[in-house]
Amino acid sequence: MGSKNKLKRFKENEQFDNVFQPNREEISKGNFKLKGQWSKHFKNDNPIVLELGCGKGEYTIELAKRNANVNFIGVDIKGARLWRGAKTALEDNLSNVAFLRTQIELIDDLFATNEVSEIWITFPDPQIKYKRTKHRLTNNEFLNRYQRILKKDGLVHLKTDSEFMHGYTLGLLHGLAFEVVYANHDVYKNEGSPKEVLEIQTFYENQYLDKNKPITYIQFRLPPN
Ligand SMILES: C[S@@+](CC[C@H](N)C(=O)[O-])C[C@H]1O[C@@H](n2cnc3c(N)ncnc32)[C@H](O)[C@@H]1O
Repeated sequence: MGSKNKLKRFKENEQFDNVFQPNREEISKGNFKLKGQWSKHFKNDNPIVLELGCGKGEYTIELAKRNANVNFIGVDIKGARLWRGAKTALEDNLSNVAFLRTQIELIDDLFATNEVSEIWITFPDPQIKYKRTKHRLTNNEFLNRYQRILKKDGLVHLKTDSEFMHGYTLGLLHGLAFEVVYANHDVYKNEGSPKEVLEIQTFYENQYLDKNKPITYIQFRLPPN
């Protein structure tokens, strides 16, 4: 995408009332006004579900259309990508959708303890190199952050083309004795995955499907922190 187009999207994000872009200072001082107050933004007490590394927000949008009584928030650092989801939500009058442009590392400064009911992680960068382990979205530290914001027995869904990420996450969960509710290493070949896993495809997923890569899925539960 050209830089002109990107700038146009960044400008529009600033005007969209479903996009939040807290700055680091605001976050580090604990001044982010929606932490613990997301229900005020949505004007209801419905459960809140996050999509982390949402890109264009396909899961956020599709799940929101299917579940009008649940609020969905797509989180990504790339504003030009999440613009797509935000624009669609506005065009389709999806009042149960918001997007948050931030580093996922800061997630527990943006949501209060027990504020989130479920988390979807869709096609995260597997960060295979050892030096990149700290950026892997299912490493121990990220799981701790998710535990802090999730309600008791909150579910996490991981959908990925990466056999490495799938195996790494399963290994970690087993080591920690966390409950793996469901796992499938080739969702379109082996029956049994939830229908949202089979029926919703993301931008990155479509590229992997074109290359005939198996798509994997894990649903797991994090015990209270
Ligand atoms: C491979 S893309 C997948 C995008 C989308 N979920 C899909 O399936 O099409 C990974 C996304 O995660 C975002 N991301 C990776 N690490 C992140 C982090 N630490 N904080 C915020 N966003 C992150 C990237 O900006 C990118 O949009």
